Amino acid sequence: MIKIKKRKFLLLPGDGIGPEVIGQVKRIINWFNKNKSLDFEIDEELVGGAAYDKHGTPITDEVFYKALESEAVILGAVGGPKWDNLEFSKKPERALLKLRKELKLFANLRPAICFKQLVDASSLKPELVSNLDIMFVRELTGGIYFGEPRGIKPIDNGERKGINTHVYTTSEIERVARVAFDLARKRNNKVTSCEKSNVMEAGQLWKEEVQAIHEKEYKDVELNHMLADNCAMQLVRNPKQFDVIVTDNLFGDMLSDEAAMLTGSLGLLPSASLGSKDKDGNMRSLYEPVHGSAPDIAGKGTANPIATILSFGMALRYSLDLDKEADTLEKAVQDVLDEGLRTKDILSKGTKEVSTSEMGDAIISKLQ
Ligand code: IPM
Ligand code: MG
Repeated sequence: MIKIKKRKFLLLPGDGIGPEVIGQVKRIINWFNKNKSLDFEIDEELVGGAAYDKHGTPITDEVFYKALESEAVILGAVGGPKWDNLEFSKKPERALLKLRKELKLFANLRPAICFKQLVDASSLKPELVSNLDIMFVRELTGGIYFGEPRGIKPIDNGERKGINTHVYTTSEIERVARVAFDLARKRNNKVTSCEKSNVMEAGQLWKEEVQAIHEKEYKDVELNHMLADNCAMQLVRNPKQFDVIVTDNLFGDMLSDEAAMLTGSLGLLPSASLGSKDKDGNMRSLYEPVHGSAPDIAGKGTANPIATILSFGMALRYSLDLDKEADTLEKAVQDVLDEGLRTKDILSKGTKEVSTSEMGDAIISKLQ
């Protein structure tokens, strides 16, 4: 059984623009507490480079245990050039990978939505991306990110050898495939599963197990298999052919970045990382924007808080079953975009530039 405290959020702002964007989420949580009597409890801790600077480790045990006990973790971003040369185990990214792995957050949901107000910000033609709505389901706790053996080792001829292992088991593939099929049933009922079954045995297994679970439990959902390189190509050729894409950890990392960029709205895209539900319906989860820590603009008050605010919206929907509140929040974001308010990253002709906190102000005013 999972021991978590209901309605307890752990905020982990992290590095770069993380603290600025999480700052706006804090204001929104306070708004919900005050106006909707939602009694969310929040706690805030260091993670990533910020934790390393203070404690010499990217995540302390204390913070890790707080994450274990929280109903949802909301993370800003980790990393930056300042910590690039640290030894591997101390890098800011290790905190994130540890949380994903130890909290068993195997399903990473990354919507790639083209907001109608931002069609022109895409590098693709408007007709290719308008109304685009793809849901990526990226496997998050297996594959080459975590496979053993791994490391850098000296070899006989005086050279060194770098090793990582790409490995998946049947149950790891099945559980993430189920998440994808379940989501598809609530959307356009279509799943595309991506692997490299033409060159990798683990890819062949992936394809076979997704096919098997489809035949056993999800015959009503349309399933296509696609090689991951072809998927990369199809995403820029005709992205609207996709509904739900399910794929492994590494391909999911790359393909979801590609899809995010073609929406022109990297600063607007949220993500959810989910574990499995126990018999009482308890589930661990972590929510974070798809964008990174953007060290070049950190501290300037220009960062776009929308991706993180929408990540909190996903927390309302997926962890707390508060669909109505999530809808309200998403609608507030849409209204602000309709009014032409933009942070610098999505500024275009005829729109008005606002700062991070002004964007927060505007969204809160629409919640009223
Ligand atoms: C992501 C990021 C991470 C990943 C990094 C920061 C470890 O790129 O969430 O997509 O590779 O998974
Ligand atoms: Mg990535």
